[in-house]
Amino acid sequence: MDFTTKLNAFVSEVETALDQLVPAYAGTQPGPVRIHEAMRYSVQAGGKRLRPVLTLSAAALFRPHAPALPAAVAIECVHTYSLVHDDLPCMDNDDLRRGRPTAHRQFDEATALLAGDGLLTHAFLILSTHYGADPLLATALVRELADAAGSARLIGGQMQDLLAEKKTDATAAELDFIHLNKTAAMLEASLVMGGRIGGADDSTLAHLRAAGRHLGLAFQIVDDVLDATADSKTLGKTAGKDARSGKTTYASLHGIDAARRMAKEQTDAALSAFNALPGDTAFLLWLAESMLSRAK
Ligand code: IPE
Ligand code: IPE
Ligand code: MG
Ligand code: MG
Ligand code: MG
Repeated sequence: MDFTTKLNAFVSEVETALDQLVPAYAGTQPGPVRIHEAMRYSVQAGGKRLRPVLTLSAAALFRPHAPALPAAVAIECVHTYSLVHDDLPCMDNDDLRRGRPTAHRQFDEATALLAGDGLLTHAFLILSTHYGADPLLATALVRELADAAGSARLIGGQMQDLLAEKKTDATAAELDFIHLNKTAAMLEASLVMGGRIGGADDSTLAHLRAAGRHLGLAFQIVDDVLDATADSKTLGKTAGKDARSGKTTYASLHGIDAARRMAKEQTDAALSAFNALPGDTAFLLWLAESMLSRAK
């Protein structure tokens, strides 16, 4: 199987599992129909599914004791919630996401807010339900995801990202903090959770974490470069938004060429970390490189 076929196979497993594990209101009595429509609207809009694919491919390096798919879905639920909230008028105020109107445009702000809350909470229901038979694994997965998504990491990174808007003296160190937390934290968690499901030892988990950190930095630098260089139709989200909102990004701080070089350096560092892992890492190496040259 070539790598593109393998990626498509992982993505299609994730799509099926998302459909099964993200709730839909199925009652016959008046009930919470709209919130479930909104949750599914954002989840089913497509997206690269990078984080769940990282989880599945990290677990596949080992002989997993448990299926990795529920954890992969939980991570995609948290990621999608973060996008729904990121797009809200009080945050990035975006109208387009994954090629469709953003959740607050399609529904309304309160519904988008609640749909994000619903997805975030549901992720932890999935983890505790599907891994509850192995309490040590369940606790490790819940802890990993809660830490990555929490106020010291994803949420903290988003806060600093907003505070750096319109700031003309943001430093490279501040920008690194933002990228490491708003974006890299979830990529680290995706790989580490896959490793935990596979039964990886501590030193292997440390390599997975390092790979996620470097891949995450590269991923957000490329996102910033694409925002400045690609068009909205290709991206499925509004291009040129960062410059218009006065965001501090690698592209604005260092220039496009230097940002591209930095993304390459971070990708190379991720490849070295993947090379230190046991098992057949060829797909992960290919995936990391393909994220560097992605068009969206
Ligand atoms: C967008 O993430 C937000 C960032 C962290 C840059 P993705 O580029 O993975 O978005 P989807 O999931 O493919 O829509
Ligand atoms: C990453 O930053 C957002 C999240 C962590 C949710 P951006 O604000 O650059 O993401 P996009 O470009 O809107 O997808
Ligand atoms: Mg943002
Ligand atoms: Mg945004
Ligand atoms: Mg962006």
